[in-house]
Amino acid sequence: MRQKIVAGNWKMNGSLADNEALLKEVVAGTEGLSGVVCCSPYPYLFQLQGLLEGTHVAWGAQNLSQYEKGAYTGEVSASMLKDFGCSYVIIGHSERRTIFGETSMTVAEKFKAAQEAGLIPILCVGETLAEREAGITEAVVGEQIDAVIGYSGVEALNSAVIAYEPVWAIGTGKTATPEQAQDVHRHLRERIALMDSDVAGKVPILYGGSVKAANAAELFGMPDIDGGLIGGASLVSRDFCDICRAMG
Ligand code: 13P
Repeated sequence: MRQKIVAGNWKMNGSLADNEALLKEVVAGTEGLSGVVCCSPYPYLFQLQGLLEGTHVAWGAQNLSQYEKGAYTGEVSASMLKDFGCSYVIIGHSERRTIFGETSMTVAEKFKAAQEAGLIPILCVGETLAEREAGITEAVVGEQIDAVIGYSGVEALNSAVIAYEPVWAIGTGKTATPEQAQDVHRHLRERIALMDSDVAGKVPILYGGSVKAANAAELFGMPDIDGGLIGGASLVSRDFCDICRAMG
């Protein structure tokens, strides 16, 4: 049995007051579940540590520096995230790749930096609409995953999570059908299995892109979908809790 996970990616949203209300409701509304994660902007990690320590809800960040420390103005290191109790960190989100120019090589370096500090990377991969229409989805996600495997080795996926997020489904209200998502998840697992079938069988692969309470159960019911990475709906406690419960 693979670990099921539902992780909220708050993106650049939140305030001290809103976060406190949201987190208290998430803790109460997901009682008894494991695999619930909230990923906040950096400044709020101290608040998450205060409110979530000792509960069943884990927390993490949405990015980190590939560098350990030093003259990197504005950056945040993996060890700093550990100081604030993070277990997870999202790596290579499509917004980082497209808006902030992160290449697959940078993503591979960040993935390694996260693991070296004892954080569990949530590695995001996904194709744009143009790439899907050109029939190159598998090549695109393959290149994204191969960059990390090439740099850290396939065994590194033993302590990592993958998130398949088709770019055309993020924040658009346009969800991949369960079958479309399952096809890519299966491809990813088969690709990893060519290198190491044990690792392929164990690594959780989450789906992200317009997951809502109404479609979560159907998506999470697919054989290779092990939960979700949730954007907009993770900011609404009732929706997020419903999605977490859909892990079953
Ligand atoms: P939405 O759930 O808002 O589509 O965002 C998905 C996402 O990008 C999570 O990382």
